[in-house]
Amino acid sequence: MKISVIGGGYVGLISALGLAELGHDVTIIEIDKSKVDLINSAKSPIYEQGLQELLEKHIGKNLSASLSYESVGGSDVSLICVGTPPLPDGSADISYILSAAEKIGEACKDNSDFHVVAVKSTVPPGTTKDSVKPVVLKHSGKEPEEIGFAMNPEFLREGRAFEDFLNPDRIVIGSEEPKSAEMIEMMYAGLSAPVLKTSLTAAEMIKYASNALLATKISFANEVGNLCKRFSVDVYDVMKGVGMDHRLSPHFLNAGCGFGGSCFPKDVSALASLAMKMGENPYLLNAVLQVNEHQPEKMIELLEARTGPLSQKKIAVLGLAFKDFTDDIRESRAIPIIKALLAKGALVSAYDPLANEHMKALIPKITYCTDAKSALLNADGCLVVTEWPEFSDLNEEFHVMKDQIIIDGRRILRTEQAEGICW
Ligand code: UGA
Repeated sequence: MKISVIGGGYVGLISALGLAELGHDVTIIEIDKSKVDLINSAKSPIYEQGLQELLEKHIGKNLSASLSYESVGGSDVSLICVGTPPLPDGSADISYILSAAEKIGEACKDNSDFHVVAVKSTVPPGTTKDSVKPVVLKHSGKEPEEIGFAMNPEFLREGRAFEDFLNPDRIVIGSEEPKSAEMIEMMYAGLSAPVLKTSLTAAEMIKYASNALLATKISFANEVGNLCKRFSVDVYDVMKGVGMDHRLSPHFLNAGCGFGGSCFPKDVSALASLAMKMGENPYLLNAVLQVNEHQPEKMIELLEARTGPLSQKKIAVLGLAFKDFTDDIRESRAIPIIKALLAKGALVSAYDPLANEHMKALIPKITYCTDAKSALLNADGCLVVTEWPEFSDLNEEFHVMKDQIIIDGRRILRTEQAEGICW
């Protein structure tokens, strides 16, 4: 199939490469010229495991990037993958979606073949049906039977996105007519995953509800974990027992310093804001966010209880990315943790295998180190904030600390000196 992917950000780039890997002819349409140039010269604009290799494999063959919407006219499917950033009230800003819909409509004017416009971005329920569809139809001048619409949410985890793209748990396709759903299903031919066909609006809601429930599991594990700590019980033993119930599953019950990233905080807030707008009180969603906001404070409190007042104490922060295998620091728990340490007068030395530069741009006035041992040298305390596997091998590196007070926020350390935030 010929596919135009609108947006060369994280979701667009991964989807485009995944679809190229499935054998399709893919054009990425991107407004940022520097990104277009980078992609076309097989240089990845972002970090993701396996991305560089796949770019080199497909660019100039069945993948290219362009500033223009010209390819849409000859494509079977346009996949909208532009951002939906949060507005001040937490709701999603869909202006980039609407602008993409306008341009797709214009590019489709002279297209004689059936074309499907599919939304992949996370959008509020009703967006595809009530906003994207009328805008595309208006700007293309086409009748509803000439253009199909679909909503096809993504469930990719950063750091493991290609693994998730090629081995999905399910493919969700929202549509109003069978022809569009069939074309999207064909686009994924070659993947073995159950396909759920549903309405446009239900597909949009499935994405929000999935992320909100995953975030709920984490906040639940954290709240129970905080209580376990009071009873000197290991929350990981407790959640192992809980997760053995097939109705619950053992995943996403890892307690620690909370969830970050570009998805969970934003999507839970957006769903809560939607609920308010619709006259429903989002008690549970608000609590999920509240627990998450408090976990970094818990970590600082525990550290302070062990080290005494933090003023002029040297504290090593290991891990700055919001999770392992990414350089992404968006909503990383390291941000409130470092800010709280600085507010208490601590001297912070930090290390992350990939995210030092991004954090330096946000918080320049701390010391950035090229390895864990340098960050730990003469430190009065250490906080582990990201679940990087390399941290699990740290042991004698801690011996260079002034005082071996080590608080693990991710249950990643194996050293016996470490104390867990909720275990
Ligand atoms: C998340 C979802 O897992 C994906 O399915 C979804 O497609 C994606 O959002 C999205 O909406 O685009 P992602 O944010 O990349 O993926 O990362 P996760 O692996 O889900 O981790 C999110 C955060 O939760 C991280 O800070 C991680 O450290 C934390 N976490 C995760 C926990 O604290 N405990 C856990 O048990 C699991």
